[in-house]
Amino acid sequence: MISRSTIDRVFESARVEEVVGEFVQLKKAGSNFKGLSPFTDEKSPSFMVSPVKQIWKDFSTGKGGNAVSFLMEHEHYTYPEALRWLAKKYNIEIEETEQTNEEKAQMNERESMFLVSNFAKEYFHDVMLNTNKGKAIGLSYFKERGFREETIKKFDLGYCIDEWDNFTKAALAKGYDLKYLASTGLTIVKENKQFDRFKGRVMFPIHSMSGRVLGFGGRILTADKKAAKYLNSPESDIYHKSKILYGIYQAKKEIAKQDNCFLVEGYTDVISFHQSRIENVVASSGTALTSDQIRLINRLTKNITVLFDGDAAGIRASIRGIDLILEQGMNVKVVQFPDGEDPDSFAKANSDAELAAYLENSAQDFINFKVSLLLKDSDNDPIKKAGVIRDIVTSISKIPDGIQREVYVQECARIMDISERVLFSELAQLLKKETTKRTKITQNPIIDPNQPPPEYFAEQEQAQMGLVKGGQTSSKKIDQLSILEKEIIKLLVLYGNEEVEFTEEISNVDEDGKETIETRKYQNKVSTEIYLHLQDDEIEFSNEVFQNIYIEIIHQLNQNDKLNINDFVNHKDTDVANIVTSILMDKENPNRQLSDWEGQNIFVTSDLEVLEKAVNDAVFNLRRILIGEKIDELMKEATQDQAIAIDLEVIKNYTSLKMRLFEKLNRVV
Ligand code: CTP
Ligand code: MN
Repeated sequence: MISRSTIDRVFESARVEEVVGEFVQLKKAGSNFKGLSPFTDEKSPSFMVSPVKQIWKDFSTGKGGNAVSFLMEHEHYTYPEALRWLAKKYNIEIEETEQTNEEKAQMNERESMFLVSNFAKEYFHDVMLNTNKGKAIGLSYFKERGFREETIKKFDLGYCIDEWDNFTKAALAKGYDLKYLASTGLTIVKENKQFDRFKGRVMFPIHSMSGRVLGFGGRILTADKKAAKYLNSPESDIYHKSKILYGIYQAKKEIAKQDNCFLVEGYTDVISFHQSRIENVVASSGTALTSDQIRLINRLTKNITVLFDGDAAGIRASIRGIDLILEQGMNVKVVQFPDGEDPDSFAKANSDAELAAYLENSAQDFINFKVSLLLKDSDNDPIKKAGVIRDIVTSISKIPDGIQREVYVQECARIMDISERVLFSELAQLLKKETTKRTKITQNPIIDPNQPPPEYFAEQEQAQMGLVKGGQTSSKKIDQLSILEKEIIKLLVLYGNEEVEFTEEISNVDEDGKETIETRKYQNKVSTEIYLHLQDDEIEFSNEVFQNIYIEIIHQLNQNDKLNINDFVNHKDTDVANIVTSILMDKENPNRQLSDWEGQNIFVTSDLEVLEKAVNDAVFNLRRILIGEKIDELMKEATQDQAIAIDLEVIKNYTSLKMRLFEKLNRVV
């Protein structure tokens, strides 16, 4: 782990405008910098960087944060990867926290394997471009296949000379340990002899998402029927076939930008597509797709288009794997190539524009595709058709989103000419089984030390604004709640340390039952005042991110008496950083519209001079909505179940409390 003091030094040294400036062309605009959003194809700049606040904000997508979160968004780095990148840029030596000897040894082991793999990549590449044998055999093979020089460089393609140990000798001479040559599988050690595993093959290095070489695929050049056409690195501490996708490093930016990923089978399919200007493409390398591989794509986009070669047998074998994609809540389309063509050959035989048009025009929704494919097979045989129905409903049951499932059921009922009711009841049965299974699975997550845990992403998605736990609340109420909760966070972030004079109303009831209202003025910090109110009512924020920020703010105030906004801007939870930066940068928004409050039936003014009113408005409005909800809930129970004796008194009390709040809201000046 990177030590706390290194992290602090990275944050102290990193200048957001310099970091962003490496990827986005920035122009000075007042005290800020402005540029075109790197996340969309916009024509007028809505991307802002504030050197004063050390934050960036992309108004076209709503993303924002600090230097680290920029690298995470733009380069798709994990948090430690972003820190390492910055440390390198600012020449900061990384100090690792104490590790056990075992951890250290394992870390060194993996690190050594990475180093030797990287050397191999460079060596094979260099040999191919700069030696006679390399040029005559390796390079000419790729040239014959139509690969251009820039493509060969982009994918670091190479060649391993057809001698027993040409590579191994070079690596040993450079000081690399035979142990790691063997553990990466680059060298095969037999007794006291050593051989190059990939001798005589052209080399395809396989990169991780962040660009490290994990392993290789090597293609044979002779038409030897006995030897495998492709040879891959063996499984090792750094190469897990089921967790890699060929081309992900070269494709990640374009996948995010296009918001779609093409999935092909082979190395050459990926490379040919790049040459045809389609760069959002990865390959599963000829094996069945795994959940880990899908998760890699899921970090970048929700949309996958699976490309099938033109042979029917292959398609039937691979459509099962697609249920795994649906399970992760992704949208799947399929494209089928003409008979006898694979993506590589099709790309070569057609122009860039023709390929792009083909992909666009022949993409079909997966479920529809599967229905028509299987129906063709069943030739109206009722028993076979029943099997098809079950098969399709199984696929639909994998989709986590209920509304989407319903749409598919309706669609399939239409295509298959059966009643929706039958499909729905079949679906309900499957879902029941699934839920029991799923709870078991989630208790046992598979953790890969190289990747952030899957929950990390899921949480990020779930925590997006407006998503509320529970799911009974109507969307309008969710909007109102979210807006109010954000307003409270905003008051805390912007004015939390401000001292304000508040007025309290104390009601006195005398012996005759006559009520008199006495007012009392007192000083309080905005944050303390808000805290006391919410504490009184035991209010929790419905939005998880807001709740987290709130708790941290209160915690800080309790400890230091003062709020340090930087801790939030530099927060490692990107959602927290996003929300706080958007609060800080709101005034700069070039597309700023009138306040969200318009038309929401919420009465608020937030201005420094009327802070007391702003605090009261936000808190009372929040209470009003929550009480309204409580009343709705009680009423619903009352109408739903006559057997439950509902205490009408309770509802009456809540209603009068709600009225009082309304009065207060109108009265507070
Ligand atoms: N593959 C493999 N081992 C094999 C055959 C195939 O690992 N013996 C993987 C490779 O990743 C290959 C992919 O499966 O890229 C698809 O196989 P195939 O269609 O046979 O290869 P192509 O990519 O078409 O290769 P080429 O065009 O070079 O023949
Ligand atoms: Mn091929």
